[in-house]
Amino acid sequence: MISRVFSSLVILWIVSNMAFPYSTLAGEGEVLFQSLHCGSCHKPEEKAEGTPLVQIAQTYGNKEKLLKYFQGEAEPLIQWGKPAMMKGQLKKIQALSDEQKTALADYILGFVKQATPTAKP
Ligand code: HEC
Repeated sequence: MISRVFSSLVILWIVSNMAFPYSTLAGEGEVLFQSLHCGSCHKPEEKAEGTPLVQIAQTYGNKEKLLKYFQGEAEPLIQWGKPAMMKGQLKKIQALSDEQKTALADYILGFVKQATPTAKP
């Protein structure tokens, strides 16, 4: 019984990794990202109203920097030129618990692109 639950979890994990080629652990952070509609302005790679997630993950690189930005203790590292658009969003983020902010940061930092299998020489 337990092993059946375990193996279906493993299968689920494998399938979700195939469907989503980023090294992110989907979870609370992804749920928050979606429920707060961050994705309407932040797409994985393409430019939209806001910075692409891959660019954020690459530029910030570590959680401390991203959390400082979330908390309003640091200016945005990427000069995207539209700070006003993020102002209200930062208020929403700051209303979250520390644990939720960390989950959101982890989710965004997971958008480091992995090598595609087809790119092998
Ligand atoms: C209305 C569009 C919009 C929404 C919704 C939005 N953002 Fe943004 N976001 C922006 C823009 C525009 C910037 C660039 C701000 C600047 O130029 O300083 C930005 C910047 C950022 C940055 C910093 C990147 C940098 O410039 O250094 C992070 C991290 C971020 N957003 C996360 C989020 C998260 C998490 C949410 C959901 C709670 C969210 N955003 C929702 C538009 C949006």
